Amino acid sequence: MSEQAFAVLHALADGRFHSGEAIARDLGCSRTLVWQAVHAIETSFGLSVYSVRGQGYKLARPFDWLEVAAIRAGLTPGSAEVWTVAVANQVDSTNTQLMAHANADELHGLVLAAELQTAGRGRQGRRWLASLGSCLMFSVLWRFNRGLAELAGLSLVVGLALARVLRQLGAPVELKWPNDLLLDGRKLAGILIELSGDALGPAAVVIGVGINVYAPENIDQPTAGLNQCGIRLERNALLALLLNELHQMLSEFEVQGFSPFGSEWMALSSHQDQPVRMSFSHGAPVDGIARGVADNGALLVDTVDGPRVFHAGEVSMRRLG
Ligand code: BTN
Repeated sequence: MSEQAFAVLHALADGRFHSGEAIARDLGCSRTLVWQAVHAIETSFGLSVYSVRGQGYKLARPFDWLEVAAIRAGLTPGSAEVWTVAVANQVDSTNTQLMAHANADELHGLVLAAELQTAGRGRQGRRWLASLGSCLMFSVLWRFNRGLAELAGLSLVVGLALARVLRQLGAPVELKWPNDLLLDGRKLAGILIELSGDALGPAAVVIGVGINVYAPENIDQPTAGLNQCGIRLERNALLALLLNELHQMLSEFEVQGFSPFGSEWMALSSHQDQPVRMSFSHGAPVDGIARGVADNGALLVDTVDGPRVFHAGEVSMRRLG
């Protein structure tokens, strides 16, 4: 049914009334199947559909469908040369899909965006939950000649790329080490980076990004959505802007590493000079004052035992007080 539901959703995306008869005719199916698909759009996808006798069906909120042509239309010439963009209605996880290409071939610059993920993944084994149309979810596959050992600052660079774009659009986002984006202290976006390769190089990297357009409900932490700051940009246009920025920043990172980005990153840090607690999967937490990031993207914290350095992956951070 989900294939049929996506087809009917496509027909309704413009937010106008469409009769069941016309949809059935266009899709070459019965009106009963259209009715069942509308039911699935409401129950499985969580979208509201008005049904009015004599007029047909209408989505309560128009649906800005992800489309390759619309995404490509926003790419700069340099960026358009690098990115190969694909869009899927539904996948397990865009990261999982692209990781399958990480070792197998030499593909570079692949982008996969999805309307829905059935097994979206977050950092540290968590799940990433997003309802249809409420989030921009995509992954990119990028190859570096640098080895894994030199990619430690990459997640911060990606966070900064997103922050640059969103701030230009009018969302005053901040960065939470290592790579969350916060709006008014609430989580707006997350990044999941997965690596494949050798310590000395080359390395393949899958960078997965989820940006809430509308804040998700039933999540165990405070969340935010871009709609809160009045940003009405379509997800296609937003993705193109992000790909342009990522193309530029990943290319620069390849040559120069994280250090040229350090001061800009720290200026946007939500926890700079604030009391923080560092927690680990094992052992007691460590409290201190966040003092910025090192040239390799590690977090510097002043503790009662003196300055300490924390590397992403091994630890999570939260503000104290
Ligand atoms: C986090 O904050 O823990 C990271 C969240 C990353 C979510 C994105 S959504 C697109 C891509 N595919 C996934 O399965 N995860 C990332």
